[in-house]
Order: sequence, then structure tokens, then C-alpha cells
Amino acid sequence: MAIATTVAELSKHVGQTVTLSGWLYNSRSGGKLVFLILRDGTGLCQCVIEKTDAKADNFQTAKRLGQESSLIVEGEVRADERAVGGYELLVRNLRVVQDVEGYPISLKAHGIDFLMKHRHLWFRSQRQWAVMRIRATLIKAIRDYFDSRGFILIDTPIFAPSVGEEAQTLFEVDYFGDPVYLAQTGQLYVESAMMAHRKVYCFGPTFRAEKSKTRRHLTEFWMVEPEIAYADLDDVIELAEDFTYEIVRHVLRERRPELELLERDLSKLEHLTKPFYRLTYSEAVELLHSDKPKALLENDRKEKGARIEELQALIRDKTARMEGEGVKQWKQDKLGGELIEHREELSDLQTEVANVDHHIELAANFKWGSDLGGSDETIIARLYDKPVFVTHYPRGCKAFYMKRNADDPRVVNNLDLLAPEGYGEIIGGSQREDDLDLLLEQMKVDGLETEPYEWYLDLRRYGTVPHGGFGLGLERTVAWICGLKHIRETIPFARMTGRIYP
Ligand code: 4AD
Ligand code: MG
Repeated sequence: MAIATTVAELSKHVGQTVTLSGWLYNSRSGGKLVFLILRDGTGLCQCVIEKTDAKADNFQTAKRLGQESSLIVEGEVRADERAVGGYELLVRNLRVVQDVEGYPISLKAHGIDFLMKHRHLWFRSQRQWAVMRIRATLIKAIRDYFDSRGFILIDTPIFAPSVGEEAQTLFEVDYFGDPVYLAQTGQLYVESAMMAHRKVYCFGPTFRAEKSKTRRHLTEFWMVEPEIAYADLDDVIELAEDFTYEIVRHVLRERRPELELLERDLSKLEHLTKPFYRLTYSEAVELLHSDKPKALLENDRKEKGARIEELQALIRDKTARMEGEGVKQWKQDKLGGELIEHREELSDLQTEVANVDHHIELAANFKWGSDLGGSDETIIARLYDKPVFVTHYPRGCKAFYMKRNADDPRVVNNLDLLAPEGYGEIIGGSQREDDLDLLLEQMKVDGLETEPYEWYLDLRRYGTVPHGGFGLGLERTVAWICGLKHIRETIPFARMTGRIYP
């Protein structure tokens, strides 16, 4: 009897006869052998079918099987260093569950739009498979971190009666005739729970009607938000630092093969040490006004310019080869796929180079008092090899609940954590305004009516204490850990401006 197992377990079955069930990822045949690369959700395994009389049927079937056909194979496990995963199966029996023809995603390259439209299938591709496994592990690392340190999980509502973070990005929903909003944050609710449990966190989907299309913004994203009592800004920073450090270490430990599959430069993550850097907002502004941003971006222009020329040459060359006489169909497909990738990279680089002057100007003319823009954050983050905390932002550009600084009332006790390699803000947080009068004053400045917040104000009326917390964006953190340029691949089904399918 063959033992039913999975690719991940093959090392335990060398020399034994097993069955594997999965899907056909890829195949090739040569002479008397067919190699099926089977994908079973846990890994890839090369299954070898020989053309012998006993297996003549298997051989013929295997030869014509289309990509993503579902199948069950039985055979003997052999260790083979050259095979993907290190093992291969000498197939004795092959059973086809469904014979597939015309699977839309081939192993050659496709454009990103095509892939996003086929997200439900794109999931099966190796890179996407790796990203989702890393995401799942990161979520577990986050939960384990808080659960093992006495934090109580508090689930916060998704229907919210008022602004949580910023009025400009609310999604309004009809709630039996009254307007309510999809939650932008669970923070106000975890503040309330913190008063009961001391250390709490929420972890769930949050919603922001971000109209601009950027590589960092989704309209639906996941955020984890811890909140702690009797804490000032330093306590919150310390927690954010230790937390970020630990969850990255956890993923590095548990998901090394997946990170390698993504070709992530692991040295960058391995060198993560505490403490991270700290800058005040005013110091960040000085940095933007220094000659560093210009030097950095001019260097980009040079490097990207060289790559653009290289890509243009590649595109010319491959287009000519494709149009040449007698080029085989498979070769044309391969070149066509590569061309799509080159053109996408080229168009991204051209946009980036076209923005260089604008970004230099934005940095040079940055005015104390405004919020750091995406390009400013990128510049600051790129000037450091570890995450950077930027603290003490001007009160006017931050949310109403942030604690006014005692020494300089123009600023608040807040923190943003910028991830290195240009990833930018992954955490936003603060000490909270615990003084009822100051909170009311700020709400007035921000034009917020107090009525919907009476329950929140009660927290300042009954046993108020210094406290604070932060929110970490899951998808931006996955992008950083995986080394992905765009956030759209870090969530199973991305929701962005103009994208709601599948
Ligand atoms: O800085 P934000 O807006 O902070 C809050 O919502 C606070 N209430 C958190 C708290 O103190 N409890 O958002 C926190 C993080 C950002 O740093 C970013 O990582 C992520 O959430 N984020 C987004 N991620 C993807 N798409 C978007 N549109 C995002 N907006 C924020
Ligand atoms: Mg923020």
C-alpha cells in the first residue's frame, strides 16, 4: 500500500512508495522520459515517468497533460539534489482528476493587470504562494508577540459612528437610514478596553477611501493596534521597536525558503538590530533641507538612466528576434513574456526618473508644519540602513487624539516608524491626549463635534492616565519583509482605487 503524503513530508519517505495529490505546475519530456512538476500546496516535486511497456499508458497521458491539470501520482521517493525540493518521485501510477487545457497563466511573464484580474489563479504561482505563506506567518508572529506578553485581544467594530483617523478618507455606509463609516482604525475602542485590561490589542481589517493610486495604499488593509496604560511616548517607542524586531526575526526563522524563493536580500533583514534610529520631525526637516536628498536622487537618476538604456536595447533586440523568420511558437511566447516585463520595468523607471526633479524640489522646499509626503518619507528611510522613528510632528498635521508635548505645544508626542530601503511608514502611533480640556480644545480646532465622541471623552473623565499605542500596517510590513515594490501582492485580494475584482 502506498502511503498518502505531501511534498513537504517527502524527506521521511525516501525509498518508500507514496501517493501525492496535486496539480501540474510544469512539465517537459525528452525521449523516453516525462518530467511532471507536481505542485501540492506544500511544495514542488519532480515526478518522473519512464516509457516502458508497463507504463505506456501513464507515459502517453503524462505527455499531453496541460498545466494545472489535477492529478494523483503514486511512486517511489528518491533523494536527488538536482530536483526541485531535493526529492523526486519515480512514478508507477498516474491518475488524472481533471485534464486541463488552456490555463490562462503560463510560466512566461504576464502584465500586472492581467495577473491582478486573474488573482484567483495567480495565487498558485510560486512567488505568490511564497508571499501568502510569509503573510500568514507574520500574522502568527504578531499574535504570538502580544498573546505571550499579557496583552488581551479586543475585537473592535467595523461599523463606526464617527471619524477615527481622518475625515477625508471615510467610506460611508447606510446603516438603516443613518450614515456610518467603515472603521479606519480600532484605536478609540482599544483605548477604552485598555482602561479595563491595561494592555490590549486589536487586529483586523480597516478601510480608507484613498483616491490616489500609489504603491503603498490599499482601500482595505489590516492593522494591528496595541494600546498600553501608564505609558508615555518612550514606552510606546520601546514597544514598537521590540515588536518590529521580534516579528521580523520570527519570519526570518520560519520562512527562509520562501524568502529565498522571492530572492529577497536577506542580509538586509538579518542586520536588523535594536535600537532603531530616532529623529524628531524637526531634524527630519533639516535632513530634507540638506544636500543629501539631492545627492541621493541625482544618483538614482544616473543609475536608473543607465538601466533605462539597457532595457531599451533589450526591447529592441528581443522585438527583432521575435519578428525574425522561422521563430518557434514557444520561443515567441517566451520573448513576448520577457518583453512585457521589460516594458513594465521601463515604464516604472521612466516615471521615477521624470519625478526626480519634483521630489528634489519637494524636499528642498519642505515647510515645517506640513505632513511628510510619500517621497519625503522614502528619502529619509533610504538614508538609513535600519528603521527610523520620526517623532514630535506638528500638531496641525496629526490626528486630534495625540498628546500635546509639554515643552513644545506646537508638536505632539507621536511616532512614525519608517522602514529602510525606501519602504517608508509602517507604523503610526502616539501617546494619547489624556487631559479632557486639551482634548476638547483640539477637537474644536479640528472641527469635530463632541456628541459622537462622548463615550470616548468619558475615558478622560473617569480615571484618565497617560497611555498610548500604535498601529502597524500588515501589508506594508509584508512588502518590506518580502522586498516587494508594490503592496498589491501582499494581500490575498487587493482593494484599491479602480480595483474590486475578483
Ligand atoms: O498612521 P495611521 O493612520 O495610524 C492609525 O490609524 C492610528 N489610529 C494607529 C494607532 O495609533 N493605534 O495608520 C497606521 C499604519 C500606517 O503606518 C500604515 O502602515 C498603515 O497603517 N496604513 C495603510 N496601509 C495600507 N494602505 C493604506 N491606505 C494605509 N493607511 C495606513
Ligand atoms: Mg500615519
